[in-house]
Amino acid sequence: MFLPSLSFLLAIFGFGCCLDNGLMNRPPMGWLAWERFRCNIDCKKDPKNCISERLFMDMADRLAHDGWKELGYNYVNIDDCWMAKRRDASGRLVPDPERFPNGIKALADYIHYKGLKLGIYSDLGVYTCGGYPGTTLDKIEIDAKTFAEWEVDMLKLDGCYSSSAEKAQGYPNMTIALNATGRPIAYSCSWPAYEGGLPPKVNYTFLGDICNLWRNYDDIQDSWDSVLEIIDWFFGNQDNLQPFAGPGKWNDPDMLIVGDFSLSREESKSQMALWAILAAPLFMSNDLRTISKQAKEILQNEMLIKINQDPLGIQGRRILKEKFHIEVYLRPLSNSATALAFFSRRTDMPYHYTTSLKKLNYTGNSAYEAHDVYNKKTVHVLKLETNFTVTVNPSGIVMWYVSPIKDLDPPHKDFQAYYPKRGETDPYFL
Ligand SMILES: *[C@@H]1O[C@H](CO)[C@@H](O)[C@H](O)[C@H]1NC(C)=O
Ligand SMILES: *[C@@H]1O[C@H](CO)[C@@H](O)[C@H](O)[C@H]1NC(C)=O
Ligand SMILES: *[C@@H]1O[C@H](CO)[C@@H](O)[C@H](O)[C@H]1NC(C)=O
Repeated sequence: MFLPSLSFLLAIFGFGCCLDNGLMNRPPMGWLAWERFRCNIDCKKDPKNCISERLFMDMADRLAHDGWKELGYNYVNIDDCWMAKRRDASGRLVPDPERFPNGIKALADYIHYKGLKLGIYSDLGVYTCGGYPGTTLDKIEIDAKTFAEWEVDMLKLDGCYSSSAEKAQGYPNMTIALNATGRPIAYSCSWPAYEGGLPPKVNYTFLGDICNLWRNYDDIQDSWDSVLEIIDWFFGNQDNLQPFAGPGKWNDPDMLIVGDFSLSREESKSQMALWAILAAPLFMSNDLRTISKQAKEILQNEMLIKINQDPLGIQGRRILKEKFHIEVYLRPLSNSATALAFFSRRTDMPYHYTTSLKKLNYTGNSAYEAHDVYNKKTVHVLKLETNFTVTVNPSGIVMWYVSPIKDLDPPHKDFQAYYPKRGETDPYFL
């Protein structure tokens, strides 16, 4: 009798190797329903805001016509609560017939016609978090096929109602099932968020092989406290997270809540800037039909988007925590540029923070130009020793795009202490 060895099974199922769908070489951008619209299924009382095809078509219209798509915001993503309560007779997921009367394929057609992409949601487990039919291990293949037939472009696979052992089998199994459909479908894995988000329980090398992005931590809520908690967790654990992000494989601190109810203008600028430092996916969860001009300006800041989308895809880090509650963040970018952010956790008044590039461990011989990303007019010309002062508002941020005027130095030799070499193929340190 032939008993296949474990390594033989690993070889035929291809575990440990690769998602390889060519997608998301830059952090994905778009819109995701959950934080703002949750599991609101009451289309009788709240027809404009319930989870229905109407809502996703409305958001697609806004993305396509209000300047978002051109900036890269091109995913329209469904989250939980889109399904009917039961699978059909052949075991397939079906959308709720009243809220999605034309079905998901028609919605995908509409979204593609607008030049956008459609993301869908399912949950590895008996139920979704909201209590809809889950993708149990025996349903992985049929669900992947269904999504591909509907011409969906992305899948977020949540992790309610399954054990750690089922997740360890199911998440890589879905990678294989998606690949087998022949349709490139980007894959967002909520797996690490259910396992505490840290090694040794979470193997980020492996996640990078099987997922395009992954939720490491708790869901964001519409509150500044929630944003701060996420910032603290991601930068507090940066040694465990930062090295594993890169083109095609991103840490996901969850949605942007800029444009919702809770954040002040300063807080909104801080969330957007720190998500750019993190090389985070930029999925807004807000109401694009009613968003304020002010929030839109922050979300459509071209220089911030350029920083977020930098082709090297190196996640940035917090490099300094001053005892007077000013923090400095740095992300290395292509063309020997860097993004520098000065963030205030103070609660009194604008703080005048004086430093120099030398104090921030820049060591090159170049002179630098610093463009203020929010106050677009300001350009500072700096030498290493030049002292400069930034004024940072409470809960606010000053973000700079710093580039050498004359590039005399090998790219980024300054920052090797913060960004240890990750491997021979790392373009950044060759
Ligand atoms: C993590 O996953 C990688 C890639 O599959 C594997 O080579 C490595 O041995 C794993 N590390 C641990 C500690 O299991
Ligand atoms: C499936 O994987 C193979 C090799 O790993 C890759 O070449 C191919 O592009 C993948 N197909 C899709 C649809 O992701
Ligand atoms: C997923 O795992 C099951 C065993 O649980 C296996 O039968 C199936 O072939 C796997 N599917 C894929 C696409 O690898």
